Amino acid sequence: MDITLSEDIDAEYLEDVADILTNKEFLALNSYRHHVATTRLMHSINVSYISWLTAKKLGCDAQAAARAGLLHDFFLYDPREGRPSRELQAFCHPKVAARTSRETFEISEKERDAILSHMFPLGPLPKSREAWIISGADKICACAEVFHITIALARDGRVAVSPA
Ligand SMILES: [Fe+2]
Ligand SMILES: [Fe+2]
Repeated sequence: MDITLSEDIDAEYLEDVADILTNKEFLALNSYRHHVATTRLMHSINVSYISWLTAKKLGCDAQAAARAGLLHDFFLYDPREGRPSRELQAFCHPKVAARTSRETFEISEKERDAILSHMFPLGPLPKSREAWIISGADKICACAEVFHITIALARDGRVAVSPA
């Protein structure tokens, strides 16, 4: 499966996440519905790109923010059909995402911690500035996706993703 990204996405961003965005297993996230009207892949790219832009502006590690942002919901199951553990989905899925990410890609400890803490305050405290950025971007994107706030996201740097 191919994905089409909007042309205004920075080429440097695409370079930072190229291995992830071309990985078949990762792209399978596009077959899971997420936040009502989007897919888990689109949500992940939105979070990742917003995190990358924010990290760059603040002088943080933009590549780590982009990669962990992309991988923060890398779990390949539908929570409505059951979970791999007895924990609530809010606590369970960051752990599964961290494990799947480590099995599939080379990720740093900082990236792993950011994935594990993205649900804060449900779960561990973010340890790095990049982790805080991802946790914030996730909440902003979730609200925008649930309430279809496309106007806000349609301004500069908006990420539009659609199946090819
Ligand atoms: Fe999540
Ligand atoms: Fe998320």
